[in-house]
Amino acid sequence: MTALADLLKPDQGQAATRLQLVDKKGFDAWLKDQPGPARQAAQAQGFKAEGYQLAILPGERDGWSAALGVANVDELSPWCLSKAADLLPEGTYRVADRSPGPGVLGWLLGQYRFERYRKEKNSKGPRVLLTDEPARIDETVRIAESTFLVRDLVNTPAGDLGPAELQDAVEAVAKDCGAKSRTISGEALAKDYPMVAAVGRAASERRAPRLIELEWGDQRHPRLALVGKGVCFDTGGLDIKPSAGMRLMKKDMGGAAHALALARLVMKANLPVRLHLLIPAVENAVSGDAFRPGDILTSRKGLTVEVGNTDAEGRLILADALTRAGEDKPELLLDFATLTGAARIALGPDLPALFSNDDALAGELLAAGTEISDPLWRMPLWKHYEEMLASDLADLGNVADAPMAGSVTAALFLQKFVPEGVAWAHFDTFAWRASARPGRPKGGDALGLRAAWEVLRWRYPRG
Ligand code: BES
Ligand code: MN
Ligand code: ZN
Repeated sequence: MTALADLLKPDQGQAATRLQLVDKKGFDAWLKDQPGPARQAAQAQGFKAEGYQLAILPGERDGWSAALGVANVDELSPWCLSKAADLLPEGTYRVADRSPGPGVLGWLLGQYRFERYRKEKNSKGPRVLLTDEPARIDETVRIAESTFLVRDLVNTPAGDLGPAELQDAVEAVAKDCGAKSRTISGEALAKDYPMVAAVGRAASERRAPRLIELEWGDQRHPRLALVGKGVCFDTGGLDIKPSAGMRLMKKDMGGAAHALALARLVMKANLPVRLHLLIPAVENAVSGDAFRPGDILTSRKGLTVEVGNTDAEGRLILADALTRAGEDKPELLLDFATLTGAARIALGPDLPALFSNDDALAGELLAAGTEISDPLWRMPLWKHYEEMLASDLADLGNVADAPMAGSVTAALFLQKFVPEGVAWAHFDTFAWRASARPGRPKGGDALGLRAAWEVLRWRYPRG
């Protein structure tokens, strides 16, 4: 695939096909203004300026232009150009008479294809957009690249993306960004991250569990810790999932992909933070030595956890990683995880559930999400439900007995491992599009990444 940086270019008056943006309220006037052949072409194609509608119009002497329906020409969304970027032929384009605004991002995101496993690549050549806001190009390209990174990692089947390959992905980003990375496995893992080791120990040697870390930035800057659930495949363990529930579980490292992509954005933009990324990477497999329902694990923090269900594995590995992150008292701690089916039952596929112990942080994240069309919905860390995690034998259990408020009890479990006084937000995200939307093809996707990034940019402006 063409480098993303080649798809968005400064407008220097070069030859380009015009894209006319039209909304319903302006449609009649626009149509009346068109020269006869263009008007007839628009009508023949049934163009009524419905959102995402596209019509090809003949030029006055030669060439052609395209008309594009948008919801509101005065308030462009990031997705307004996505469908056009997807449908139009290879070439160079310019939005007529105005800036493409936030549409530049969707122009890039709409050209994503995952073709690693196809002999016949069906992607066409690059659709290049010119913009009169060159200052916006670098940032937009970095967000698109990071989104593509999430999509590629999530879409890659578990057979080709186990803990070792996830480690490779972190190391590649570390190298690209001049960060240090380090991976703990084997006996050191069992000692320092006992719940990561326990969850991952049923996997084959080649796919052994590990804790992948990346560190970057000036010691004097405030600490930012990012944690991501890296379950490269979730069979459910001995509490094995039924086929339908297991089918998509290659995406259970989606949280790790989000955290890594966010770390990449932080480093590429050179934010004044001291970054600590932690990815517990495991395969939740089945074998004679798998951890069992009823087993009691001692966490890094020292709290004992009775395993009520081996399919609630994400919170176990995150707990040890959050504990480690908290030991350095970060100013801000964010975690991303495909943690519960319950979050999807509550909010559906498109709205990540946001949990936070800090109202200001939650408010900023919600506002950012709304502003840049990466919505989140806040759910409560409802203290009274903590008792649902009580265990007869251990300090706590990893699941509630009743299948109620499942994403809340999962978040409350995590909170037990976050030190008081550390501002923390937890994203329970789907990391997946079950059906294609403009700019967002079916398959792995980043949900909540841009909202988080926006808040980091607000909180840590450069110099
Ligand atoms: N990875 C799953 C959660 C999941 C399932 C996310 C489907 C997105 C789509 C997680 O490890 C899990 O299995 N959670 C269980 C928890 C339960 C056993 C308390 C769930 O949600 O059913
Ligand atoms: Mn599970
Ligand atoms: Zn899982």
